Amino acid sequence: MNTENLSTKKGLIIGLANDSSIAYGCLRALYEHGCREIIATYQSQKAYSYVKAACDKLGDIDLVEFNYSDEKSIEKLFDYVKEQFGKIDFIIHSMAFADKDSLHGKITDCTADGFTKSINISCYSLISCCRYAQKIMPDGGSILTMTYLGAHRVINNYGIMGPIKACLETTVKYLAAELAESNIRVFAVSPGPIATRAASGINHFDDLIEHAVTNSPMKRIVSIDEVGNLSVFLIDNLSSGMTGQTIYVDAGYFLMG
Ligand SMILES: NC(=O)c1ccc[n+]([C@@H]2O[C@H](COP(=O)([O-])OP(=O)(O)OC[C@H]3O[C@@H](n4cnc5c(N)ncnc54)[C@H](O)[C@@H]3O)[C@@H](O)[C@H]2O)c1
Repeated sequence: MNTENLSTKKGLIIGLANDSSIAYGCLRALYEHGCREIIATYQSQKAYSYVKAACDKLGDIDLVEFNYSDEKSIEKLFDYVKEQFGKIDFIIHSMAFADKDSLHGKITDCTADGFTKSINISCYSLISCCRYAQKIMPDGGSILTMTYLGAHRVINNYGIMGPIKACLETTVKYLAAELAESNIRVFAVSPGPIATRAASGINHFDDLIEHAVTNSPMKRIVSIDEVGNLSVFLIDNLSSGMTGQTIYVDAGYFLMG
């Protein structure tokens, strides 16, 4: 893959919790392809030491605390990015949240508050990112979010996150259509199951992994580095003719009925 021009790209990665995070796989892949000017976020002081230790293995990454709660928090983050870089070329939005009751309970028991909080953090935050991104992406760029197959099929124990990821994927299509005039391309990346901190909140997550290994055509799961490599391609000019898709990186599991 000719990714020489990644060394000139600048961007923001939202959602590092530790060195198992999908966001970290993206950061590592971008870094390995020459991209150095990256601002990455962690959610809280509790996460900082894990994120810092992981990032120190790569180099001097600008780490910023960011806890999405409202429009103001994202405005503050983008003000900082603008201050540091002026303009950017990519954003990786790799965050999702559902409280335990909403995630583990039946869909019919999900409260309006639980649903609203989850869709706000997991989906609306992408819309906010795109709004602010437009102001600091004058030359166009790529915006990626992370989704899951549970948007399309009923996956055991994925619960309320299924409908929320479905909303996220459709949001990506509309954002892609809207932002195309600014040459901003928007994608949903759909990895297969990977053992991360967020995934540990899903009941019987090991069963999902086992099912993926047994039933995917490639008979394995994917690594965060493979998700990262796909992100590199979607940020690179090599993918310049694409926008709006949900792209699977799941060892072919999505093909199977
Ligand atoms: N792990 C999987 O199997 C898998 C598969 C497909 C898609 N995904 C998606 O990938 C994305 C990243 O998850 P991950 O698996 O790397 O887990 P992770 O726990 O490493 O990352 C999730 C991140 O979301 C952040 N986050 C949650 N609420 C936040 C808030 N209010 N403000 C700021 N940040 C917040 C957390 O701090 C964390 O860094 C999520 O959208 C997830 O749904 C995960």
